[in-house]
Amino acid sequence: MTSNSHQLTFAIDVAKSAGQILMDYLDHGIQIQSKGGVDIVSDADLASEKAIVEAIHSTYPGHQILAEEGYADQREAEHLWIVDPLDGTINYAHEIPHFAISIAYYYQGKPVCGVIYNPARDDLYSAECGKGAFGNGQPVHVGQQENLAEVLVGVGFYYDRGAMMRDTLKSVETLFTKQIRGIRRFGTAALDLVQVGLGRYGAFFEYELSPWDFAAGRLFVEEAGGQITTCSGDPLPLEKTSVLASNGKLHQSVLDIVRR
Ligand code: IPD
Ligand code: CA
Ligand code: CA
Repeated sequence: MTSNSHQLTFAIDVAKSAGQILMDYLDHGIQIQSKGGVDIVSDADLASEKAIVEAIHSTYPGHQILAEEGYADQREAEHLWIVDPLDGTINYAHEIPHFAISIAYYYQGKPVCGVIYNPARDDLYSAECGKGAFGNGQPVHVGQQENLAEVLVGVGFYYDRGAMMRDTLKSVETLFTKQIRGIRRFGTAALDLVQVGLGRYGAFFEYELSPWDFAAGRLFVEEAGGQITTCSGDPLPLEKTSVLASNGKLHQSVLDIVRR
């Protein structure tokens, strides 16, 4: 195994420290505020983001940061860290142990390395451009299935209760008519992308995600041998977008169903 880059080693350490913060808040009780609609933020999200941002500033003073809870530098920056301090906030708020910290480092708009850490299970997923994807230090690979009937498909619902929610349900219905083995909605986009890279899901789609939701997970999927595009089949932009990730072999058949 090749040794990790400085940035990846740093991202792993920072994700683990932020994970400890999230677990401590869970033990002592969290305060939740509405962000408008059904989207929420907790004091734990903010404390995790503060710790990650401070660590990046002190280790990489010239680098820029794009983080969910308010830290938004220019996303065109040459050195950019993209951070979701708590992905799966609704799971977290309901004490479901399936949430994560997602940290990615991009150089000139391209992913260099990424980490997704689930502190409740102490599961660490990482990827580095050209060096592969790893789950708890072991190399991982997408599944090899070529038929929809052999796979689980993951789905996410953005915080929308209108047309996007109805389109998602329609796509799920069509997937069922293709005899997929099952649908899963685990509620943490970063960990959903991980499931594709691990070969547990044949595909995952969601009609709106933000860069911090997929910045690390997209590299994980690609380095695990999978494919990731928008739900129109285009390359992923570094902005709000639909996302379709798959084992590659199933990409076109799922795209034909979820295209939007
Ligand atoms: C959300 C989760 C969820 C997805 C939403 C995301 P958050 O992120 O990843 O699974 O369906 O679209 O916004 O708000 O928990 O960081
Ligand atoms: Ca998120
Ligand atoms: Ca979040």
